[in-house]
Amino acid sequence: MPLRLQTAGESHGPRLTAILEGIPAGLRIDPAFVASEMSRRQHGYGRGGRMKIEADAASFEGGVRGGVTLGSPIAIGVVNRDFANWESVMGPLSVDPAAAAQKRLTRPRPGHADLAGGMKYGARDLRDVLERASARESAARVAAGAVCKLLLRECGIEVRSGVLSLGGVESGAARSFASLERVREDSPLRAVDAALEPKMVAAIDAAKKDGETLGGSILVGARGVPAGLGSFAAWDRKLDGRIGQALLSVPAVKAVELGSAIEASRGPGSRAHDEIEKGPDGILRRRTNRAGGLEAGVTNGEEVIAVATMKPISTLAKGLDSVDLETGEPARSAYERSDVTAVSACGVICEAMLAFVLADALLELTGGDRMEDVTARLAAHRERVGRYPR
Ligand SMILES: Cc1cc2nc3c(=O)[nH]c(=O)nc-3n(C[C@H](O)[C@H](O)[C@H](O)COP(=O)(O)O)c2cc1C
Repeated sequence: MPLRLQTAGESHGPRLTAILEGIPAGLRIDPAFVASEMSRRQHGYGRGGRMKIEADAASFEGGVRGGVTLGSPIAIGVVNRDFANWESVMGPLSVDPAAAAQKRLTRPRPGHADLAGGMKYGARDLRDVLERASARESAARVAAGAVCKLLLRECGIEVRSGVLSLGGVESGAARSFASLERVREDSPLRAVDAALEPKMVAAIDAAKKDGETLGGSILVGARGVPAGLGSFAAWDRKLDGRIGQALLSVPAVKAVELGSAIEASRGPGSRAHDEIEKGPDGILRRRTNRAGGLEAGVTNGEEVIAVATMKPISTLAKGLDSVDLETGEPARSAYERSDVTAVSACGVICEAMLAFVLADALLELTGGDRMEDVTARLAAHRERVGRYPR
């Protein structure tokens, strides 16, 4: 795959780093756009105190000169402001044992990485596990995703998301890009159905009062995606699988649905598939988009549409039954400052991951060391697909 993304950094460590390799030379970086993506990830009603401390800024530290990519790996840093409060606990080379002991975590939270990660790495202090498992890491992904979105924008492809359901308040909005265009970025929850936001906000308030947390689902989609990205020729090139993997890698995302797959599975085939017709312009198109723009792991020229489902946050103020690893005795799970819900922010991370997968598949199709090669080859591809089968 032409694009590679790696991130490093702990939640309360000094900084997060993303390295994005494979972006061609000649892509202009729009710093205001990158900054707005970083801030979108921080918003959403129901977030905890951490997001009030951080004001995420992505600093470009490699692979870019004068605002234009060089073709070399792009390094992006995001400083954790909170490190100033945690240096004695999270110092990379030394910690203050007394301060570290105070922040020691020994009562694993069901649903978080604590127990499984402790068993895996042998950590006695589960902070060694949770610091990396924390969704704070996703700030680095969103920074890299913003670069992917800029590349896609040059290619006429746009990626958006919106909250479809939260805490059981469900929208029946159409699974289409048009639904995503109606999402108000300045609303408390970026819901697809703005009329449902007061109900969602009330559900969050009630959950908070009860020491509870909430999950939900996100509609994420892309428009302008050419037919022919991905391949059925080998299982690991199938784009549906790659999108699924990328979205499931987002913390707390536990299910991914492409198009209207679940509803389609409940009815007959005649109501599951997207019938083909020839438009007056001679172009082949679909009457519906139940497949979410993907057939056999290949984009078919329709909008790419997915739904990512997020479980409720696993750090509950009221705790859950657990065991204190220190004493071996039953105990309530640990609580530290946490979100009541983060579905809206999760959507921004899903956008970043979808943008990464689409940019990767696009570069696979076009190749090219320079953006001008990418756009010229994409234009030729779009033209060929448009007149298919001629
Ligand atoms: C934007 C965002 C914010 C999150 N905030 C929290 C949080 O404050 N507390 C928490 O326990 N989990 C939070 N999570 C979820 C955990 O990171 C996640 O459940 C944990 O890493 C275990 O991974 P898994 O749920 O993917 O299995 C958040 C997830 C996202 C996407």
